[in-house]
Amino acid sequence: MEKIVSLAKRRGFIFPSSEIYGGLASCYDYGPLGVELKNNIKKAWWKKVVQERDDMVGLDASILMNPKVWEASGHLKGFVDPLAECKSCHKRFKLDGLKDKNKCSECGGILTEAKNFNLLFKTFMGPVEGDSAVIYLRPETAQGIFVNFNNVLQSSRMKVPFGIAQIGKSFRNEITPGNFIFRTREFEQMELEFFVKPNEAKKWYKYWLKQRFDWYLDLGIKKKNLRLREHGEDELAHYARSCFDVEYKFPFGWSELEGVADRGDFDLKQHQKFSNQDMSYQDQDGKKYIPYVIEPSAGVDRPLLAFLVDAYEEIKGGRTTTTQANKEQEVVLRLHKDLAPIKAAILPLSKKEPLKKVAQSIYKDLKKYWMVQYDEVGSIGRRYRRQDEIGTLYCITVDFDSLDDKKVTIRDRDTMKQDRVAISALVDYLKNKLD
Ligand code: GAP
Repeated sequence: MEKIVSLAKRRGFIFPSSEIYGGLASCYDYGPLGVELKNNIKKAWWKKVVQERDDMVGLDASILMNPKVWEASGHLKGFVDPLAECKSCHKRFKLDGLKDKNKCSECGGILTEAKNFNLLFKTFMGPVEGDSAVIYLRPETAQGIFVNFNNVLQSSRMKVPFGIAQIGKSFRNEITPGNFIFRTREFEQMELEFFVKPNEAKKWYKYWLKQRFDWYLDLGIKKKNLRLREHGEDELAHYARSCFDVEYKFPFGWSELEGVADRGDFDLKQHQKFSNQDMSYQDQDGKKYIPYVIEPSAGVDRPLLAFLVDAYEEIKGGRTTTTQANKEQEVVLRLHKDLAPIKAAILPLSKKEPLKKVAQSIYKDLKKYWMVQYDEVGSIGRRYRRQDEIGTLYCITVDFDSLDDKKVTIRDRDTMKQDRVAISALVDYLKNKLD
């Protein structure tokens, strides 16, 4: 993990938040490469679950919602962790993480009885601070979907079974954040609620478990590092009838990337009760019922960390041994083509004219289609390694022969195979590889 954290900072994937002021616990900023990777993950998810399907539509609900939503959803009462406080050093501990439930693991002091601590972030709406102005930052994007169930039905002519997908920030006042971006208090989620006939819930649950597991494999996660784990009765969230986690084998152990839950009719029923609005659905044959919901709920940050860890490879002694520099250890980030932040780098062998002009012109042309970089600084070997370390898929070298034959050399990150390609055919060559 130290190597990943260091690479992430050094190459501009992830920085500590407000670092010049000493940072803020468990908050992180995504740098120039991090934001590309994050956007690519979200794009891959949206393409798979919305764009390529007929039975799914998107939504972007507001983070701030009427506080009644959280009463109805059960989060005001049920979204709690039992906490005990040390009577001596006043540190607070999550009860389920303690070996000795009576003794402080830091100073040996006596612990108080556990009290429930609510994980919702509270704030005030408008200029008045008081109970009437209290609102919450959403702890999941899902409720924005449930409260818009009727709006989507009426405006889009969707028919059960269908789903609504959403990507957005969520906030939880976690007691024990940690492991870099794995558990933070502000994070992003990619959630979808799939509404089904109650008697078809089992079938769709199985279907989504496979769909979501395969999504990670398709994007290059190694099978040996991925598994499904069913929640025990005592782990289930207050809304869930059943839940499986998609887990990744992080350096700190198997941990959750995504939960796929059968939420039954809990949410729509609760909102019907608290809002007095009819949340039922009428089938074509006139039958009315409250649909059941299958919910695959992924983070963005956790999968991003898993993609980084899984793609990271150190090659001792380097992959090429022609120069001293190449004998150093090399790092290759073998990110999937859809996720790699930079698709190609254009590297002129000399930073002087006329090579520079040719390379710059290629760069400007490719920029219209993909995120590409131009790099003329340092030896070609070092430039290859700089690109390998951030996962760039293709290095395009412009050499002195390019001036005569109007061709460039394209090196593949993974196979190191080199192709000589006409400059006029470059876009088609890359389209073929990247699309
Ligand atoms: N709507 C259901 C729901 O929110 P969850 O299992 O609590 O379910 C879903 O969260 C996903 O959101 C998790 O699998 C994880 O990827 C991400 N997530 C949850 N809490 C997080 C946190 N504190 N930091 C980073 N990601 C988090």
